[in-house]
Amino acid sequence: MDVISSPAETQRRALELKRAGKTIGFVPTMGFLHEGHLSLMRLARARCDVLVASVFVNPAQFGPNEDLDAYPRDFERDEALCAGEGVDLVFYPEPATMYAPDASVWVDEDALSGGLCGSARPGHFRGVCTVVAKLFNLVQPDFAVFGEKDAQQLRIIERMVRDLNFPIEIIRGPIVREPDGLAMSSRNKYLDEEQRRNARCLRRALDAAAALFAAGERAVPALRSAMVELVESTPGARIDYVEFVDDASLVPLTEIAEAALVALAVGFGTTRLIDNAVLSVY
Ligand code: PAF
Repeated sequence: MDVISSPAETQRRALELKRAGKTIGFVPTMGFLHEGHLSLMRLARARCDVLVASVFVNPAQFGPNEDLDAYPRDFERDEALCAGEGVDLVFYPEPATMYAPDASVWVDEDALSGGLCGSARPGHFRGVCTVVAKLFNLVQPDFAVFGEKDAQQLRIIERMVRDLNFPIEIIRGPIVREPDGLAMSSRNKYLDEEQRRNARCLRRALDAAAALFAAGERAVPALRSAMVELVESTPGARIDYVEFVDDASLVPLTEIAEAALVALAVGFGTTRLIDNAVLSVY
């Protein structure tokens, strides 16, 4: 497995592989890898000649008061985990080599990015779209795998690929959960023991909505109240949002007629966790 930090060298290598007729699969990450990332790598490994992963904590997607400096990092461990999953090349750039000091071109998606995580994190998805577009240009993948845990991000990347004509297939990787249901996330590491126990309320709230939905409830206020009640009765849990939106347009719903993305963000201390599920009548 090669580790390359130079963007130009990564692009040169990728173009050479493409000329040789190789298919490139890509898993972009911010490192501090967990089973969720590894499951994306396994999905990709099975369907490409060359598997590329990137490890880059992208400053452009963090707000001024967010956890850029505190974001967990352990490249040696990430490197070993990538090697274990059969990754061929890890792209591990320095921020200064990814963004020129006078960088002035950004990729801004403006239909799906405003609500959900976008309301609390202005500029976040602009940073995500910009870095993912840059990574796509450097890595030249035939396909890239993104986790369903970041449901809004996934839909925005799919929209970007469609609207900017990237010749890249986006593959959705299912959410991977801890045995008690908590969705895996690098940020789970911030939780103390009690917060970690209470963080199960995200999945429980989704389950509560799913149970009502299965029993025939379609009215969003009723489904949402059940979730809010459950989270609010959890010690230390602070709701950022609990939303039911159209699965494709992310427009808020009052009733589920087809498919709804149910998404929530809950704070524990300074840690913000997200989770989601799709409720579909089909
Ligand atoms: O989901 C992530 O880890 C990041 O947002 C991504 C896609 C690697 C872009 O920095």
